Amino acid sequence: MAKVYESITELVGRTPLLEIKNYEKLHNLEAKVLVKLEYYNPNQSVKDRIALAMVEDAEKRGDLKPGYTIIETTSGNTGIGLAAIAAAKGYKFRVYVQDNVSQERFQVLKAFGAEVYKLSDEPVILDVLQETGGDFVAAVKKFREEIVSKLDNVYFADQISNLSNPGSHEKTTGPEIWEDTDGKVDILVANVGTGGTVSGTGRFLKSQNPDIKVVAIQPGPNSLPSETNPTPEEITGVHPFTGIPEERIPATMDVNIYDEKFEVETVEAYTAAREVAKSDGILIGTSSGAAIYAATQIAKRPENKGKTIVAILPDTGLRYLSTNLFNV
Ligand SMILES: Cc1ncc(COP(=O)(O)O)c(C=O)c1O
Repeated sequence: MAKVYESITELVGRTPLLEIKNYEKLHNLEAKVLVKLEYYNPNQSVKDRIALAMVEDAEKRGDLKPGYTIIETTSGNTGIGLAAIAAAKGYKFRVYVQDNVSQERFQVLKAFGAEVYKLSDEPVILDVLQETGGDFVAAVKKFREEIVSKLDNVYFADQISNLSNPGSHEKTTGPEIWEDTDGKVDILVANVGTGGTVSGTGRFLKSQNPDIKVVAIQPGPNSLPSETNPTPEEITGVHPFTGIPEERIPATMDVNIYDEKFEVETVEAYTAAREVAKSDGILIGTSSGAAIYAATQIAKRPENKGKTIVAILPDTGLRYLSTNLFNV
């Protein structure tokens, strides 16, 4: 039967689950490690799911209408996903990016027809970031109050407080893992940025089987800016959700969902991503390397022998060619 899609919106999700058999052998693992390859989404990241959900939920509510401009404050995967979905659905897209955004990200956003603005062109945002020592949640709140509220016919997607973000994972990522494993999954490993992935996927899987363990990844101390190391190599998109003031945790992060917090350093993430590229032929980003590193350590625990661990790999290594990830 013919099968022709009519919009990239139909291509979001239903990503494959792959057992990394060669990597398991390399590490003598006695647990299964299954990786969910989110780079199979139409714009190569897990964020296509939330971009589509934030747009379509807003359309249903009537918050987003034909002729409107969609706005977001990230040049990361969410910005790219929204730029593509906006193009496919005929909306304008305006994104406010940080000054240090890489050339390739800038080019991708422009290619999709996005209007790209610099956050530094908005002094009110710079002031908040400076006053709070870089509190992005506070900066976005100010952005809504001072900038978005003065614009007409716009929809601010706001991935760090939009509940369509975790909602999309509860509706799609979680059920896909459950179906593809026939419910035989013991441990979920996921990174935390906005917390949408771990919260929504974890919530669905626990609703099916409360014994499923959820492991949430945050960066280790050497991978975060500090007085002695103000500009470390960071794990893109992954942020601490413990050891910070409560008001800095995004509303999209359910702090009651995880059973274990696992810290990964950038160098450990790099090593895992480089290894799995050579062992199994998958090219993934830094946070995906972090998920594989954490899954490996968890798989080595004697109590996890014979168990099935699912690690969510957020994006493709092609988005990191200008970083040190594969620069070896
Ligand atoms: C590359 C990458 N990995 C991981 C994450 C974390 O995912 P979430 O925001 O769902 O917690 C993000 C989010 O920005 C990301 O861009």
